[in-house]
Amino acid sequence: MPLRPTTGVHVTGWGAYAPGNVLTNADLARMVETDDEWIVSRTGIKERRIAGPDETTASMATVAALRAIATAGIEASDIDLILLGTLTPDYPLPATAVLVKEAIGNSKAAAMDLAAACSGFVYSMGLAHAYLASGLGKHALVIGAETMSRCTDFTDRSTCVLFGDGAGAVVMSASDEPGGTLGIELTTDTAATYSIWIPGGAAARPATHAMVAAREQYMRMRGGETFKLAVRKLSSTALKALEKSGLAMDDVDLVVPHQANQRILEALCKQTSFPIEKVFVNIHKYGNTSAASVPIALSEAVAEGRIRQGDKILLVAFGAGGTAGAIALEWTADPANRLRADGIDPKSARILDPGLEPTNPFPPELNSILSRTADPA
Ligand code: ACO
Repeated sequence: MPLRPTTGVHVTGWGAYAPGNVLTNADLARMVETDDEWIVSRTGIKERRIAGPDETTASMATVAALRAIATAGIEASDIDLILLGTLTPDYPLPATAVLVKEAIGNSKAAAMDLAAACSGFVYSMGLAHAYLASGLGKHALVIGAETMSRCTDFTDRSTCVLFGDGAGAVVMSASDEPGGTLGIELTTDTAATYSIWIPGGAAARPATHAMVAAREQYMRMRGGETFKLAVRKLSSTALKALEKSGLAMDDVDLVVPHQANQRILEALCKQTSFPIEKVFVNIHKYGNTSAASVPIALSEAVAEGRIRQGDKILLVAFGAGGTAGAIALEWTADPANRLRADGIDPKSARILDPGLEPTNPFPPELNSILSRTADPA
């Protein structure tokens, strides 16, 4: 069939999942030399969620995906494309998106992962827009999902207080109705190539006993320089996306940013003269969930009544590798549609068993801490 380009791409479904294990600042203070006052004043983070032993990026992504599909009022079989932004795939091979596709029961979608760290979800939305607008498909499932606890060094106080686990998803649908995506800016600043990185475990430095002994399988970060670049790139990328949309900052009803650090968001507002009251912040509950942070925040913003039909929304993210992305859109979906996802039980998400011996996936430092659980969100 010839391609039939469309004029509009809309967010029609949304959903999120956060695991039940809560890791508080007080818990971390029992593991490394830190305290609640330092963490809250430097980052805004009070607690974060940690995936349970049976949970993975794929399983959390599947729950968020099922919620987004239900909210959109479509069937999983209607999805033509699955794009999953993550830096913590279940395996190097196959793509985690393939596991999600199997779990939701879809037979026709192209499924792939996208590696752009904390910008992975916004990048995926940008590419899904291009896919749908060109006529290659009608519905795309776009997911950001991370199990950051499995690549976090819980002996390194400069990083282990920052990250958490979770997943969020949207369904994007092609439609000639007005509204939807208005402008997209995706960019990468190579000045930050090794500012945040995981040295070991992939092709350049494959897993060896020496690599593991040197803790190279864990994330490393130069925080100060990342902070400054994050503020600069978030503001320039956001402004570019608005310019492409024909919008001014004043036209924006709500910014839904990547949740890396409360102080980064305050600096962003100062730099762009944008009121912090119009920025959605939930970092205190989840920490930095990397690619999952924007879709989790988006779902919560809708649930809290912060997004209404006709609102102009700006999504913006910055991440490792100097990746940055922003999408301006006009929200067209009925926020009440979220109620359609109420019946979805997180326990019903089943990932295809590869038949390996079970293993304890927790970094050893976490084992003794994760005894308390809360209800999954
Ligand atoms: N508790 C107590 N003290 C600490 C901790 C801690 N958890 N961590 C660091 N410190 C100490 C340092 O050792 C240092 O002590 P010193 O002065 O004696 O050497 C002091 O606190 C200040 O350290 P800085 O690193 O300068 O602290 P800063 O104010 O920069 O805050 C932070 C650190 C929170 C990491 C900040 O730099 C930041 O948020 N950076 C950006 C992170 C980010 O945006 N990441 C985005 C992408 S992530 C991704 O893509 C996966």
